[in-house]
Amino acid sequence: MILVTGGAGYIGSHAVLELLLAGHEVLVLDNLCNSSPAALQRVEQLAGRAPHFVRGDVRNRALLKALFAAYPVSAVLHFAGLKAVGESVREPLRYYETNVSGSIALCQAMAEAGIFKLVFSSSATVYGESPVMPITEERPTGVPTNPYGQSKLMAENVLKGLADSDPRWSIGLLRYFNPIGAHESGLIGEDPNGTPNNLLPYMLQVAVGRRAQLNIYGNDYPTPDGTGVRDYIHVVDLAQGHLKALERLEQVAGVSVWNLGTGRGYSVRQMLSAFEEVIGRPLPHVYKPRRPGDIAQCWSDPSKAREELGWEAQRGLPTMLRDAWRWQSRNPRGYAQDKATVAGATQTALAS
Ligand code: NAD
Ligand code: UFG
Repeated sequence: MILVTGGAGYIGSHAVLELLLAGHEVLVLDNLCNSSPAALQRVEQLAGRAPHFVRGDVRNRALLKALFAAYPVSAVLHFAGLKAVGESVREPLRYYETNVSGSIALCQAMAEAGIFKLVFSSSATVYGESPVMPITEERPTGVPTNPYGQSKLMAENVLKGLADSDPRWSIGLLRYFNPIGAHESGLIGEDPNGTPNNLLPYMLQVAVGRRAQLNIYGNDYPTPDGTGVRDYIHVVDLAQGHLKALERLEQVAGVSVWNLGTGRGYSVRQMLSAFEEVIGRPLPHVYKPRRPGDIAQCWSDPSKAREELGWEAQRGLPTMLRDAWRWQSRNPRGYAQDKATVAGATQTALAS
């Protein structure tokens, strides 16, 4: 059985679906602070069976202990965390506590239970502003400019130290580039709380009339058209990368770092034109000054994951945008229209 922390969230729910489809038993631990139980009901609908679900906090050591005693968990995918860059500047302790202390609590409980396989959700943000593109895993980590990025780098370092201290650990650090898109069914997707921080969720909300216009932050970057360039990756490709990482961790010990990206960068203007093509109309937009802390460009060299995991992103930009639009146009208010209960997924009462 695979424990998926944060499994009701955007990336976690897609990973839970892929795990179920591949025949795994899945246990989700999520406190639902940034997600809806409706996501897991829809995962059940797609997979034909439900993950086990426990509502609870990854920082709760007593709960973790009870979970590992009650379920035969053999490996953990650790998605649970906070991810809003701006919020992390305002509430740094909450970010360090969840992202760093939460990871420590999880590893302590895993070790006590004799579980030593862990896949951690890291981020390309740990590279900081790399002067070299594309970015390989050999690039030194940089200096993240906000507590969110710092917390991911700190958690990576904690996990490296842990694996160095005990050869039983087998840990995959997956550095995601920019996850976008949704499952092709249009049933699960990204449903941000409040004003979206990220480009595609913002464009989607403009397209369904929830926001007036897209703000393009900066057109004076040293990039071909002056707007920021990123490596966008389909969330289903990303989820499948986790299953490949799990397989690989059966064979290798210690810490392994893998970039999960496509190896291709697109500018904000290219994203906008490609999206306008998908929705068949122009999207209102204005140019604004650069957003503080943004870098000009960032894209991956994904060859290590191809060679070592046998994984490669399959879905190109038009598919990412079509799938995202299918999700948003069928669910203009995300999961809010669902009756949010956990009736579908098996919820287990455990001490918390
Ligand atoms: P998300 O917010 O949709 O999912 C995170 C899930 O974790 C949510 O369901 C939330 O309720 C849960 N959670 C948060 N704190 C918790 C806690 N203390 N205990 C239990 N559950 C808790 O975010 P996502 O986009 O799916 O991201 C998943 C992971 O990937 C995060 O660790 C994030 O930092 C990382 N990541 C995301 C991106 C991105 O752009 N989406 C990029 C790089 C890395
Ligand atoms: N952008 C806009 N308008 C918006 C939002 C974004 O023009 O409303 C631009 C940004 O300036 C940037 C590009 O679109 O050039 C992408 O921005 P996102 O906010 O979508 O993504 P980032 O690359 O800034 O950050 C994301 C995650 C971070 C993560 C990082 C690397 O939000 O958590 O990818 O994985 F660390």
